[in-house]
Amino acid sequence: MFFTLSAYIGLILTILLYLYLTRNFNYWKKRNIDYVKPVAIFGNIYKVVTLQSFMGEFLAELYNITKKPFIGFFAFDKPFLLIRDPELIKRCLIKDFEHFDDRSVMENRRDDEIGSNILFVLKNPAWKSVRVRFTPVFATGKMRGLLPLILEASNDLIAYIKNIAVKETATETREVAMKFTTDIISSCAFGISSHCFLDENATFREASRRVFDWSIGRKISTAAYFFAPLLVKLFRLKFLEPNATQFIYDIFESTIAEREKSKAYRGDLIDMLIQIRNQNQPGAYQFDGKMLAAQATQFFVAGFETTGSTISFSLYELSLNPTVQDRVREEIRTVIKKHGGITYEAIQEMDYLNMTVKETLRKYPVLPFIDRRCTKPYNIPGTDVTIEKDVPIYISLLGLHYDAEYFPNPEKYDPERFTIENKSTRPADAYIPFGEGPRNCIGARFGELGTKVALIRILAEFEVEVCKKTRIPLKFDPKGFLIAPKNGIDLHFKRKE
Ligand code: HEM
Ligand SMILES: *[C@@H]1O[C@H](CO)[C@@H](O)[C@H](O)[C@H]1NC(C)=O
Ligand SMILES: *[C@@H]1O[C@H](CO)[C@@H](O)[C@H](O)[C@H]1NC(C)=O
Ligand SMILES: *[C@@H]1O[C@H](CO)[C@@H](O)[C@H](O)[C@H]1NC(C)=O
Ligand SMILES: *[C@@H]1O[C@H](CO)[C@@H](O)[C@H](O)[C@H]1NC(C)=O
Ligand SMILES: *[C@@H]1O[C@H](CO)[C@@H](O)[C@H](O)[C@H]1NC(C)=O
Repeated sequence: MFFTLSAYIGLILTILLYLYLTRNFNYWKKRNIDYVKPVAIFGNIYKVVTLQSFMGEFLAELYNITKKPFIGFFAFDKPFLLIRDPELIKRCLIKDFEHFDDRSVMENRRDDEIGSNILFVLKNPAWKSVRVRFTPVFATGKMRGLLPLILEASNDLIAYIKNIAVKETATETREVAMKFTTDIISSCAFGISSHCFLDENATFREASRRVFDWSIGRKISTAAYFFAPLLVKLFRLKFLEPNATQFIYDIFESTIAEREKSKAYRGDLIDMLIQIRNQNQPGAYQFDGKMLAAQATQFFVAGFETTGSTISFSLYELSLNPTVQDRVREEIRTVIKKHGGITYEAIQEMDYLNMTVKETLRKYPVLPFIDRRCTKPYNIPGTDVTIEKDVPIYISLLGLHYDAEYFPNPEKYDPERFTIENKSTRPADAYIPFGEGPRNCIGARFGELGTKVALIRILAEFEVEVCKKTRIPLKFDPKGFLIAPKNGIDLHFKRKE
């Protein structure tokens, strides 16, 4: 008797829970919008939650399901909208930005002050005041000023390849690239030579390794910030790996104190941060203490892995496509000769290199999706559909960049896609590796410059080749939210006369 009663209550509770978890599942149907049928508890992200697929791949599969301009889906019980059409993407990101001026990624005030103050997650109005102050930091003039620091750091990279890599049958180029980008960011942002190539266990490299150590715990934490805020609250998850951010914060504090004492000027980020702090206005967002440190940390976190991946993916594709590699090398050598060295103007003149890096970012958009949150109800032009306030919208870069309608034979690596003529045959917003509009990547110029310097210096003197250990085709690692190859990229370096 007692047993049947409790079974009965259990059954009723289960039904109630089920009804609760599926209560939103007619959200898109009611609005007459195509959507993917969700399952209880997970919605459509079962494969992401069970670590079988990463967010970028999940969104690309969703992109491929339909040809319509947008499609609804569910993360757990919440409705999300994937925007596919380049025209609509352009509207949401640029023209009608005021309806989508926040990212959907959760802002968690209980996260540490670093994690909750980085530009990537900041919400308005704070985002706007921070973005405005930091935009000049990445202006062209500033990049020109940083070039000597990047070139200096590239000497260690070349010495490593010359003295060590060429003697090995295979070199894991992803690690080489990450050492280089960790070096240039610690130099440009913190004024510190981290010497990752000289010391295998350089503290900066340890920290950068930890930032993107995609242990299962870290993976779940970051995915939860995008898809499951409830888990973040329940388990007090952090957006960034706390030990690594603490390390960067400590370095920041001591560097800024030292710089203030010595009054030296290097033209790096620290100098600019000191300037920004000295211009604090009463009543506005205060750039001080951890608020300021958060921005320095952000450049480190957002900069080294994205740029390092772009360098190593480029080297991988250039090894598989030796004719492209020869043509890039030819251009590099000719332009350097003409300018008598690697100057900012020389780099601007390397058109084919520019197209090559663009094609790498097409096949490997390291941040494979863009997210925004609707902050003001938005009527999709030409339809009677209204996106309600707080509904997250997502854009799949992997989906767009592999869409055969814009990029015929998408698996093929072909820099020619980026000639002016070929670019004019497709909508501009079918290709947005750095995002688009007021909230695009603030460090795009720095990322491109760092990538180009690495490629220029390597290709001017060396040839990269595939070897026995190279994994072809390259498979993506279903771990973080950035695109990474499974098990690294092994290549062989050879001197080139
Ligand atoms: C090849 C290298 C890089 C790629 C492919 C890349 C890509 C992206 C993308 C796709 C976004 C989102 C844009 C959007 O939502 O419209 C983004 C945002 C951002 N990136 Fe990058 N990035 C790179 C390098 C860098 C570097 C070197 C830095 C800094 C030094 C940086 C700092 C940021 C920041 C701060 C944001 C957030 C901007 C905001 O919300 O206002 N990125 N990046
Ligand atoms: C670096 O650290 C690892 C493990 O912490 C150790 O096994 C290795 O010997 C160290 N390498 C050097 C060059 O100190
Ligand atoms: C973080 O640092 C603490 C104390 O320094 C240490 O006990 C812990 O193992 C570290 N965690 C990770 C993931 O490195
Ligand atoms: C690279 O190409 C883009 C157009 O695709 C152009 O706007 C930009 O100025 C070029 N950059 C360099 C350094 O040549
Ligand atoms: C989506 O379709 C394109 C062809 O248009 C294909 O190349 C790509 O691999 C597909 N992506 C996924 C994730 O299935
Ligand atoms: C790019 O344009 C050229 C002609 O300008 C054409 O031969 C080539 O097939 C095009 N390539 C792509 C990938 O669109």
